[in-house]
Formats: sequence, structure tokens, C-alpha cells
Amino acid sequence: MQKRETWATRIGLVFAAAGNAIGLGNLLRFPSKVALYGGGAFIIPYFISFFLLGIPLMILEWTIGRYAGSKGHGSMIGIMGEFFNHSYLARIIGSLGVAIPFLIVCYYIYIESWTLGFAFLSLFQKLPLPTQTGDPQLMMMPFLKFYKSYTQPSFWAVLFLIITLVINWYILNRGIIRGIEITAKIGIPALLLMGVFLSFVSLSINDWKGLEGLCFIFKPDFSRLLDPQVWVEASGQIFFTLSLAMGAIATYASYVKKNEDVLKTGLYTAGLNEFVEIVIGASIAIPAAFAMFGASSIPELAKEGTFRIGFMSMPAILMALPFGSYLSFIWFFLLFIAALTSSLALSQPLVALFEDELKFPRSKAVNVSMIMISIGAFFSAFVPDFLDELDFWAGTLFLIVFGFIEILAFVWIFGVENFYRELTRDVFFKIPKTMVYIFYGASSIFIGVLFYFWTTVKLPEYLGQISWNLIISRGFIITSLLILILIAIESKKYINS
Ligand code: ALA
Repeated sequence: MQKRETWATRIGLVFAAAGNAIGLGNLLRFPSKVALYGGGAFIIPYFISFFLLGIPLMILEWTIGRYAGSKGHGSMIGIMGEFFNHSYLARIIGSLGVAIPFLIVCYYIYIESWTLGFAFLSLFQKLPLPTQTGDPQLMMMPFLKFYKSYTQPSFWAVLFLIITLVINWYILNRGIIRGIEITAKIGIPALLLMGVFLSFVSLSINDWKGLEGLCFIFKPDFSRLLDPQVWVEASGQIFFTLSLAMGAIATYASYVKKNEDVLKTGLYTAGLNEFVEIVIGASIAIPAAFAMFGASSIPELAKEGTFRIGFMSMPAILMALPFGSYLSFIWFFLLFIAALTSSLALSQPLVALFEDELKFPRSKAVNVSMIMISIGAFFSAFVPDFLDELDFWAGTLFLIVFGFIEILAFVWIFGVENFYRELTRDVFFKIPKTMVYIFYGASSIFIGVLFYFWTTVKLPEYLGQISWNLIISRGFIITSLLILILIAIESKKYINS
């Protein structure tokens, strides 16, 4: 068996894990969902989902990743295989766990390239001065123009996409310690610093009017709790923001040392992610929009999509403040760092698949992975609806399906006794076994209900729509899955070599 890399330092591991989870989900997706689904009404199901789904799945993925990594497997194909005798069925099911991060990163990296582009635009674009126009809407215009070019990509949009791909390629090629770990060690402290600074700026706008916006998010509202849509969105946000059921956490976990405390690392990952989401994420975009455009604007802005507040309202608001272009640069650079550390994590499962299962040397594994990701990213840029379609399947529905499969396979089929033994090995606190039954029992029921709702209500609505763009997008998803299944089957012969 080839020797696999392990994280060099504990702090590096914690930052890399936090970088895996913290991303655009925290700073863009979360504020839009909160705004759209009623502020405080969203927060209650969100926290319930965090405790019933987020924590159990996070700990599960760290546990299985550590075990499979010690046997030389870091992708879901290898991990599923390792737990179930490398049967064809287990490896084939595992291919969904590699398809998910691959499909997500194909559009995620494209959005990441917008953040880099917008950061430069903030610094170098000539904008009308707020004192001359007095109108923040006007300030949005250059961003609107630039943003439009992303759905009909201009030269600049393509250039920033290529730059972003090259940055990811370069870091992945340097490997776990010299690439991902170093990036996280620099990126995460910088992200925290920029995030806290921008929270302060946003909350203080218009004589601390932003604080009222923060109250809107956290004021409990029980009126919409019976709306299943709020529950679906809140739990979907938990999956996405914590990178759960994407295979990405388990892949990072496969690079820990044999006796790493996975319980602690899992809790750190979830804790840091929630800090950035509900403290920093909640304190920037919504309070800023609230202070500048008023309370009634929030649901309206959110209705226009996940990107409206982040990519248009935010620069307009920040540009209206002293040193506006620098503040806007910091906002987009913050998004870029958050996205970069996540896109690396979403790409690594594919790299691990080629390295561990097909025995490719690292640079070949990275090259093949990045070629595949680049193709997907260009589809995202040039095929209308591709991004939304991938986000629906891989970024939402597949997460529920694969989360369900993970709990079923690793807890119930592998056996509570076996799972418990692995879970409590070398950890600072031995959870009582009954807690495993209670927590994973509750998550199984919760996720089962979600799955039922999705397949009976959401899916039929979605499948009813059809167009050439959707056919291309779905064709891409099916082809990717088939290629990965083929690799899962073919690579079985390399086990133990
Ligand atoms: N967890 C990552 C994010 O929130 C994917 O963006």
C-alpha cells in the first residue's frame, strides 16, 4: 500500500476542516435563505436540523474517513468499499458520493471566479461617487453590467474563470500539507479577520441601524413552523453549509493520523462553521441591506435569487461608505477565500479517487481531476440553467439521498456495535451507546421524512419542466455518474496492490 499524506499539524487540520465547511453557503446562501423564509421562522428549524442532522452526520463522516484512510482509501468509492468488503454494490453506491462533490464544484468554482472578478472590479472600476448621486441603486450599475456578463460570459468572465481554475490546480498539485493545509492556515485567520471587520462595518451603517436587521434574523417567529418548505430549506442549508453528504468531509478525515480525536475535530468543524454562518454571515449582508434600503426591501431582494444581495446590493451599499471600493474589495475577497478553501475540499475526493483507487501519481490525479472540473465549469458558464440544475440535483436532492445512505450503511447495516467501537476510539469523551441509538434514530426519521417530501412534492414539479438546456445538464449529470461507476468497478482490481 502506498503511504498516504497526513495533516502536518493539529491547527492545520482544524483550519482545513473549517475551510472545507465555511464557504459561499455561509456568506451568501444563508443570508438569502433567512431573508426569503422569514428571518426568525427559519432559524428554529435550522437549529433543530443542526442538532439532529448536522452534528450526527459530521461525526459519522469524520469517523468513517479516519478508518478508511488508515486502510488507504479517501474517496467515497473506496470508503464504502472498505466498510463492505469491497463488494461491487458498495463501490457503485459510493460513486454517488464522488459524483456529488464533483458536480457541485463544477458550478461552485464558476461562482468563485465571479468573486475574484468582482474583487478586482471593486478596486479598478470607475464608479460614480455616492455624494454625487446620493442613490445607492445607481452604484449598482457597473456591477449589474459585469454580473450580466457572467450569464453571457464576456472575455473578463472567462479570464477570471481560468485564473480561478489555475489557482485551484496549483494548490491541489502541491498536495495535502504543502497545498491545502498551508492555504487554510493563511486563509482562515484572514477570513475571520475580514469577516469580523465587515460585520462591524455593516452593523454600524446609518447609526447602527444594521443592528435592527440582525434582530430581524433572530427574532423567533413560530407562525411559519408548519410550512414544510421552511423545514426543507433549513435542513438543506445545514447539509450544504457543513459540506455534509458531499464526501468532502470524509475525504479530509481520511488524511488524519490513526489516533486523531475525530469527535473533537468534528465538533470544531461544526462550531467554527456555525460561528462564521450565524455570527459573521448573519451580520453582514442582511443588516447592511436593512440599514440602507429598509426592512421591506429584504424579502424583495432575496426573491431575486441567492446572488442578488451578495453581488449587487452589497457592493452598492459598501461603495456608498467612505473608502467604499476598498470595503467592497474586502467583501469579495472574503467570499473568494471562503470559496477557495471549499472548492479545494470539493475537488479532493476526485483526486483521492484517482490516487487511491487507480494508483495514479498525485500530479496525474490532479491533472485528470482538474480537466474534468474545468469542462464542468465551462458548461456552467456557457449553458444557461446548467448551474441551477446542478445545484438542484447535486447541491440539494442528492445530499438528502446520500445522507440517508450514509446513516443506513455506516450505522445500521455496518452495525451500531461496530460503528460505536470506531466512534469511541481515541476520543476525549465516550458518548454513551444509547445516544447513538437516539441521535442516529432521530436523524434517520428526519431525513426519511425529508426524502419523502422531496420525492413526492418537489421532484414531480421539477421533472415536469423540460428544455434543451435541461437535457444537456441532466445528460452531464448522468454521464458523470456513469463514468464514476465504471471507475468504481474497474478499480476493484487494484485493491491491495
Ligand atoms: N460548505 C460549503 C459552503 O458552505 C460548500 O459553501
